[in-house]
Amino acid sequence: MSRYIQLQSELRQAPKTWLITGVAGFIGSNLLETLLRLDQRVVGLDNFATGHQRNLDEVRTLVKAEQWRRFRFIEGDIRNLDDCREACTGADYVLHQAALGSVPRSLNDPITSNEVNIGGFLRMLVAARDAGVKSFTYAASSSTYGDHPDLPKVEDVIGKPLSPYAVTKYVNELYADVFARSYGFKAIGLRYFNVFGKRQDPDGAYAAVIPKWTASMIKDEGVFINGDGETSRDFCFVENAVQANLLAAVADDSARNEVYNVAVSGRTRLNDLYGYLKDALAHHGLNYTRSPIYRDFRTGDVRHSQADINKAAKLLGYVPSHDIGLGIREAMPWYLAFFR
Ligand SMILES: NC(=O)c1ccc[n+]([C@@H]2O[C@H](COP(=O)([O-])OP(=O)(O)OC[C@H]3O[C@@H](n4cnc5c(N)ncnc54)[C@H](O)[C@@H]3O)[C@@H](O)[C@H]2O)c1
Repeated sequence: MSRYIQLQSELRQAPKTWLITGVAGFIGSNLLETLLRLDQRVVGLDNFATGHQRNLDEVRTLVKAEQWRRFRFIEGDIRNLDDCREACTGADYVLHQAALGSVPRSLNDPITSNEVNIGGFLRMLVAARDAGVKSFTYAASSSTYGDHPDLPKVEDVIGKPLSPYAVTKYVNELYADVFARSYGFKAIGLRYFNVFGKRQDPDGAYAAVIPKWTASMIKDEGVFINGDGETSRDFCFVENAVQANLLAAVADDSARNEVYNVAVSGRTRLNDLYGYLKDALAHHGLNYTRSPIYRDFRTGDVRHSQADINKAAKLLGYVPSHDIGLGIREAMPWYLAFFR
């Protein structure tokens, strides 16, 4: 039996209290859904900066009424220490997801990205430390590999950050490490690689590539590829990220004060991704016939990205359940329902 299956049964038998920051966002709301389905008690913190009430409403429709009653939502801001303290009170495990994502957003407004992603992160660390939580798992990022050319990416070999966003996520790791050395507070960082799946926001200037292209294809609009399309990514279905969070939360002390790649160790070129999305939509009877429109490379983007996931496999028992193909097939009905 895999460690994840075993863990799910342990949690069902002895429910715990979890805090999810960024609960109204994409990854946060998927964590919420999984934890409520496992009969856990969940506190959620969000200020709706990029998350949506509709994500919480959707989770409500997907779980049983008695499971939903185990969820308490706090509308608040991680830049406010009192909100962080209130949210951490009574939590066994913290899954810290709240941040301002997107490389271009951070290039347009580095100050706000810094305040939320570093200032808010530090307040969450202080609040979680003072509340005596059992563990603190946080969303780090593959952007921390920056300009280092080696593939696949191994946790302890990083380059220089290529964007303000990447700086903020790297500083998170530095602060977590300093908290371990100074206070014995051992956090776990999960370096997500291009996570995708249901409830990932398809709207707005800062949408991620899969929801953005899927939305354009469904609406029969042009799809823009930044660069020549040979840029590659290790696309990670959200169920894999959820699994990594739960495993990290209960990991023993020897696996803490570490960072882990969370992906599938695949490498998909954007030109191939374009074809996969077209094929998945065709499977639902939607035939997109336009050719992609190539434009300039985007500042701050890493050229290639592929994770080595051996560390998470060995120390956390992480075994991704979905490759990119299965993930796209599972996510597509959600996007079709969203736009129809
Ligand atoms: N999606 C990815 O591919 C990816 C990759 C690497 C890292 N990450 C990280 O994973 C985490 C979750 O990302 P996501 O894709 O779900 O993004 P998201 O934007 O859907 O979720 C982030 C959530 O945080 C909330 N939030 C933002 N600022 C806040 C504040 N000041 N106080 C309280 N809540 C606040 C937002 O309202 C939103 O609900 C982020 O930390 C992000 O940087 C995501």
